[in-house]
Amino acid sequence: DKIKFDYSKTAGFISSNEVLYMKKLAEDAKKLLVDKSGAGNDFLGWIDLPEAYDKEEFERIKKAARKIQKDSEVLVVIGIGGSYLGARAAIEFLRHSFYNNLPKELRRTPEIYYAGNSISSTYLKGLLDVIGDRDFSVNVISKSGTTTEPAIAFRILKKRLEEKYGRKEAAGRIYATTDKARGALKVLASEEGYETFVVPDDVGGRFSVLTAVGLLPIAVSGADIDQLMAGAAQGRKLAMESEFEENDAMQYAAVRNILHRKGKSVEVLSNYEPFMHYVGEWWKQLYGESEGKDQKGIFPAAVDLTTDLHSMGQFIQDGARIMFETVIEIESSREELVIEEEKVDLDGLNYLAGKNMEFVNNCALNGTLMAHTDGNVPNLLVKVPQQTEFYLGELFYFFEFAVGISGYILGVNPFDQPGVESYKKNMFALLGKPGYEDAREELLKRL
Ligand code: PA5
Repeated sequence: DKIKFDYSKTAGFISSNEVLYMKKLAEDAKKLLVDKSGAGNDFLGWIDLPEAYDKEEFERIKKAARKIQKDSEVLVVIGIGGSYLGARAAIEFLRHSFYNNLPKELRRTPEIYYAGNSISSTYLKGLLDVIGDRDFSVNVISKSGTTTEPAIAFRILKKRLEEKYGRKEAAGRIYATTDKARGALKVLASEEGYETFVVPDDVGGRFSVLTAVGLLPIAVSGADIDQLMAGAAQGRKLAMESEFEENDAMQYAAVRNILHRKGKSVEVLSNYEPFMHYVGEWWKQLYGESEGKDQKGIFPAAVDLTTDLHSMGQFIQDGARIMFETVIEIESSREELVIEEEKVDLDGLNYLAGKNMEFVNNCALNGTLMAHTDGNVPNLLVKVPQQTEFYLGELFYFFEFAVGISGYILGVNPFDQPGVESYKKNMFALLGKPGYEDAREELLKRL
């Protein structure tokens, strides 16, 4: 089985001819990707990762994960953006819905928390409280090694580790994932003797989930990273080898560009499973950062359903008609819960007696899909066979490949992110960072 893209429900909005007319554009875009001849071609390392990953490092990741599982009750994963969202998406998708709250004997792997993804002292102090005096380790992840948010969190957590274990033992509990040669984190890691893992030069943050950036925390959580890579390899094979007509990633890229050209400027990614929430966050970064530039792009939004049908559902059904929706359907649920009959039908639910919740969720999905379509929101479907490592790996690759194609069709460089620098310059100037004196004067006048 495989990830499937289905646009059959968009019949009133798109004809199959239109998709065919995009074939040449999609094929040209694919050629740019595969031949590495397009804009941003020095950041295409992710294309071959599922096959050509560093096998020696992969084993070292597993070994480090086993050590952390053995000597730590808590792992803190420090990172932001592309150095954060992939790991969290995978762990939330793959592990128990209440992973950190499970009794130890049921979970058997460390609690996992995230830091360095905000500058909130309240959050970080809360995290220190949760760790308490328990044994913990830190995986600090930063490709550049200089990003402010994770650097601040790391400084604080490193101090806690050093106070608890002494400098030498603390160093044995710190795992740094960063550039192989450059950046402050690399310097610090070499100086202190941390175990290091590499973010390859040619893999940008938002494409890095299948490198050590994602793999170490995912492995610590007890998920099977071999299966994750195997699924990604299937995604790669299908994306690289299938003709346009059978190529789900290319078709998705083509269809979203057709809808964009018809005036749809927002894509809403919908899921019906809370464990999908962070896949939505990961997808938002992947699509937002890859396409939102040069005053162009589709704004990626995400909703959790049916939760948000009781809030954002109103807008999707009936508000400004600026959007299309991409629904992720998990075709078969991992758990089964049957709704039982009650003697007295006070809550009026006996008509569902004997049905499992998956059936109800599925009716909600199909009912919503038709309602939103009737409300003039074209609905696309991405079908994921099961909630497993294999299909998550394939899904990651599907979205990565599709955004490469889609960005080239749109006419942007999908692999840079010049826009994320502007806020940093202002923040550094306001903070008084050396080298930003002139900008500081200007900004203070404007405040
Ligand atoms: O995609 C990106 O480039 C960003 O989201 C980065 O991943 C994020 O800013 C973190 O950067 P770094 O890994 O260098 O700390």
